Amino acid sequence: MKTPKALLYGGDYNPDQWLAYPGVIDTDFKLFEQAHINTISLGIFSWASLEPEEGRYDFGWMDAIFARAQRQGMNVILATPSGGKPNWLALKYPEVRRVNPEGVRDPQKARHNHCLTSPVYRQKVRAINEQLARRYGNHPSLALWHISNEYGGYCYCDLCLGAFQDWLKAKYGTLDALNEAYWCRFWSHTYTAWDQIRFIDSGVGGLVLDWKRFMTAQCCDFIRNEVEPIRRLSPETPVTTNLMGTFPDYDYWQIAKELDVVCWDAYPVWHSEETAAHESNAALNAAFRHDLTRTLKRKPFLLMESTPSQINWAPVSPLLRPGMLRLAGLQAMAHGADSVCYFQLRKSRGSCEQFHGAVIDHVGNGETRVFKEVASLGASLEKLGNVVGSATPSKVAVIFDWEARWIFESAALPMNQEKHYVDTVLAHYKPFWEAGVSVDVINASADLAPYDLVIAPLLFMVSEETGARLSAFVQRGGTLVTTYGIAAVNETGLATLGGVPGPLRKTLGVWIEEFDALPEPSRRHVVAEAGKAHGLSGSYEARHILEIVHPEGAETLAVYGDDFYAGQPALTLNRFGKGRAYHIASRNDDRFTGDFLRFLTGELNLPCAVASGLPRNVSAQVRVQNGRNLLFLLNFNGEPVEVDLGGKKYTDAETQEAVAGKLSLAAYGSRVLAEA
Ligand code: GLA
Ligand code: ZN
Repeated sequence: MKTPKALLYGGDYNPDQWLAYPGVIDTDFKLFEQAHINTISLGIFSWASLEPEEGRYDFGWMDAIFARAQRQGMNVILATPSGGKPNWLALKYPEVRRVNPEGVRDPQKARHNHCLTSPVYRQKVRAINEQLARRYGNHPSLALWHISNEYGGYCYCDLCLGAFQDWLKAKYGTLDALNEAYWCRFWSHTYTAWDQIRFIDSGVGGLVLDWKRFMTAQCCDFIRNEVEPIRRLSPETPVTTNLMGTFPDYDYWQIAKELDVVCWDAYPVWHSEETAAHESNAALNAAFRHDLTRTLKRKPFLLMESTPSQINWAPVSPLLRPGMLRLAGLQAMAHGADSVCYFQLRKSRGSCEQFHGAVIDHVGNGETRVFKEVASLGASLEKLGNVVGSATPSKVAVIFDWEARWIFESAALPMNQEKHYVDTVLAHYKPFWEAGVSVDVINASADLAPYDLVIAPLLFMVSEETGARLSAFVQRGGTLVTTYGIAAVNETGLATLGGVPGPLRKTLGVWIEEFDALPEPSRRHVVAEAGKAHGLSGSYEARHILEIVHPEGAETLAVYGDDFYAGQPALTLNRFGKGRAYHIASRNDDRFTGDFLRFLTGELNLPCAVASGLPRNVSAQVRVQNGRNLLFLLNFNGEPVEVDLGGKKYTDAETQEAVAGKLSLAAYGSRVLAEA
């Protein structure tokens, strides 16, 4: 299979919007060259241009674009157009349009809203994909297939319903087994025929979970249908689809299995609050999603979209401050991206993205500030080409599990308003990001062998099998950290019997009896036990959820400071096999999580990108190429900072100048240094 040799630099390009404007496409290609742009993502929403009426194809304009790209030595990322369906198709075949939960079929509008089950849609998609694969599948400029666009959402039509019932039949075999798995005697919801099973009965956790699993499976199946002609006719070219970070609808671990390369569309809203905390939070969120996307395949990923300027769908989106465009691009690379791509190369003239940032603005030349920043980063990236393919080794894994999230978010709990699954996982990722410790973001069924430390924040659902794997990890010498909410339910959403945390009870050495739920702004406190500090000092604030935990072999490291549970364990440690298992029983402030996880980082001797520590809002990440470390230093502050490189010697990977000692980074500045 082909792998691109250079870093991909470019983005979404929609020349079919400009066919009536002579000269525009000529200008674009000249500007691409000027900006060192080597990649265009083509045809993402071009179905109506490629197949203006059923079965009549027009590839003339696309042939011409391919020819130009080839003359200029550019890569084409060719999309299949299924993300946006043409009017003729949507109106002639109503079944391709989604049905909403109330049973009403969508009118033809917008995009990303086709039924994943419809045989007509699948057949029409396969037909256009076959045409594309035949025509361009072996074109020398074709680098990658971009399947559809940002898959998402659910359809509640009869076709989807029938497929769901079949999927359940295959999974459970008998209705008795399904009724048992869902605890259906509750409220008299026992099913006595498969076709009684409707979609989301949000009171039935197992059904909600299976519905989301099914929709994920249906998306995978839809992708298999899309790629069938592509795999057959263009077997050398890898396949991707653009993911969206922690997007809730589908389990990306399953989707990733259908792809050769993963990529995502990163849209942090930079500068929308003028505080360092906002900027840092935007950077943290982006970093986490980069790491998650990379870990899906445990190899370099692609940044498929990002804005070179403003977005136009957030409440307010300020201009990117000078340096920010480069900083955001290098941040993706620091976490394992082998591309920096933008949405969009040329700004559309009409419709709802006419005021979304683009490399080439309506003025149509290379004189804009944004264009110049794009061109300057393009020149830099040409010098950083050896980053491509480099590894991002991590000894720490943080679990972000779609299924556990789904069941947790759908469960009716005493703290419904204060669930915050994604933020809880982020809070346990943050101290590593701040310290420049590389992290893999895994799911609960991932292989744990590469890691010394695994953090399982709010892992509400733990099957016997997951419990056994986490236990074996500790047994072999790993360090596991669990938090409040651990193992409350099994894989069909049924509560753990015989004492939480069920399959992890021996490993953690605790029984979790109950938990207190506190409304905002109530707080309780957590204090370290004398002589057992584990990095903790003073009193920490706890909020929202506080478990009452009975040690069964575990040692108590910190206790609650108030309420009727004062003096009871808030942080425990169990030595189990050759390893250690810690349990954090309450949602504590960031200072607690930071102090404790930094302590573990030190104790486990986890590699930090910069040993002497980092200033606030400065991130450091390492990629390793042929045994050589490339250090990315990223300043997310609107002011210059100084980073102490300790005793190490580096060369700047762009300028080759020697760098050591104290290095200053400009406001929103970023450097890539090769370790000598
Ligand atoms: C998404 C889509 C693009 C475009 C951008 C705008 O990521 O994939 O087509 O709409 O958003 O930010
Ligand atoms: Zn449907």
